[in-house]
Amino acid sequence: MKRRSLILGSMAGALGLGALLRPRDVGQDHAPYFLTLSAALDNAGQARPTLVVDRERLLANIQTLMSHISDRFAYRIVVKSLPSVPLLETVMQVTGSNRLMLFHQPFINRVAMQFPQADILLGKPMPVMAARNFYRQFPGGAFEPQRQLHWLLDTPERVAQYDELAQSLGQDMPICIELDVGLHRGGVRTDEQLVTMLDQIQKSQHLRFFGLMGYEPHIVKVPLGDPITYRDRAMALYQHYVDVARNYLGDAWPQDVLLNAGGSPTYQLYDQGEFPFNELATGSCLVKPTDFDMPTLADHHPASYIATPVLKALDTLQIPGIDLGGLQSAWDPNRARTFFTYGGYWKALPESPQGLSNNSLYGRSTNQEMLNGSRSITLRPDEWVFLRPTQSEFVFLQFGDIAVYDDGRITDYWPVFTETTT
Ligand SMILES: Cc1ncc(COP(=O)(O)O)c(C=O)c1O
Repeated sequence: MKRRSLILGSMAGALGLGALLRPRDVGQDHAPYFLTLSAALDNAGQARPTLVVDRERLLANIQTLMSHISDRFAYRIVVKSLPSVPLLETVMQVTGSNRLMLFHQPFINRVAMQFPQADILLGKPMPVMAARNFYRQFPGGAFEPQRQLHWLLDTPERVAQYDELAQSLGQDMPICIELDVGLHRGGVRTDEQLVTMLDQIQKSQHLRFFGLMGYEPHIVKVPLGDPITYRDRAMALYQHYVDVARNYLGDAWPQDVLLNAGGSPTYQLYDQGEFPFNELATGSCLVKPTDFDMPTLADHHPASYIATPVLKALDTLQIPGIDLGGLQSAWDPNRARTFFTYGGYWKALPESPQGLSNNSLYGRSTNQEMLNGSRSITLRPDEWVFLRPTQSEFVFLQFGDIAVYDDGRITDYWPVFTETTT
């Protein structure tokens, strides 16, 4: 072969390979769902970053949840994942559950005032001073902490601290013990530890043993692991600790013992079979942020979005300094256009229009965030971009009242929890 044709051949090969590797245009304008949602926000006079909950989808997710749990287990609502009083009210009403799991002291005070009928279980052990602050800030009322508030304790040291607090307050305190059933995020890891804690509680004048909590999200998250194998291992450990506690307590084993497990990622793994717990806690699956896009939640649907206005729409991509913007957009058609949004850098992923992405060369911003997209996206200033939160916990708290979307309209606004207890 002649040298010239060899060179031409290699160039053609390189170009062919380049064409193969070059990203294709994945941009697409809003689908009808997001066009209707945009119109609803416009009609409601919205023009700032807004957290939207789709009520119809929320209700459908609740039905899905209940169809799995049916009457096999009690249902406990994870408040950190649904941090709004009216949102909780909706879930409590539809599920008929008054069991709540809490993770933050000011929110415990709020819930105790707002839902005097609630049965509260802590989802993590709290510094004893946080518990003291709860009692300090609790003005009294129909909620009876000595009956309805179950503190979660993880070590003998913490049991001793809570015993001292209960003594000093002259308050009975229902106590649940945290188990390590494989997550390795603390909790009881040996029989001796469990027996020591039970013994301390039995000897205490004010602490009352009420049950156990074993959270096991690792069973669907360990790489290369078979969830059923990990589930069975976790449940064998759970059963073991139940047996140890039962043996130790004998007649003092509570009649209405509380044995909590589960979370959104795992709850559907208990649809069939016998398991040692009697209640499942979930929250996130009802609004389904992106972290919960997983096979075990395939029948749940996204029900929450961040909507934010586009401030600026440009037909180029330019980056200050050595401008690699032109190079980026020449290579990738999905970087042909630039949009700056009102706010940004949330724990969230762009959802609609399709094919928007952040630009790591330009960087992130909580003030005006750059998103790039292809020329197939015709988005203009003042139109809406939608993102899906990666998690609802904390993210839901960043936008003020939740805009409730129902039947093509914004029908309500739901205040979210705040740090103040009043
Ligand atoms: C103790 C405990 N239980 C249950 C859950 C499940 O919550 P979700 O269903 O929102 O994932 C969590 C989440 O962190 C947790 O920490």
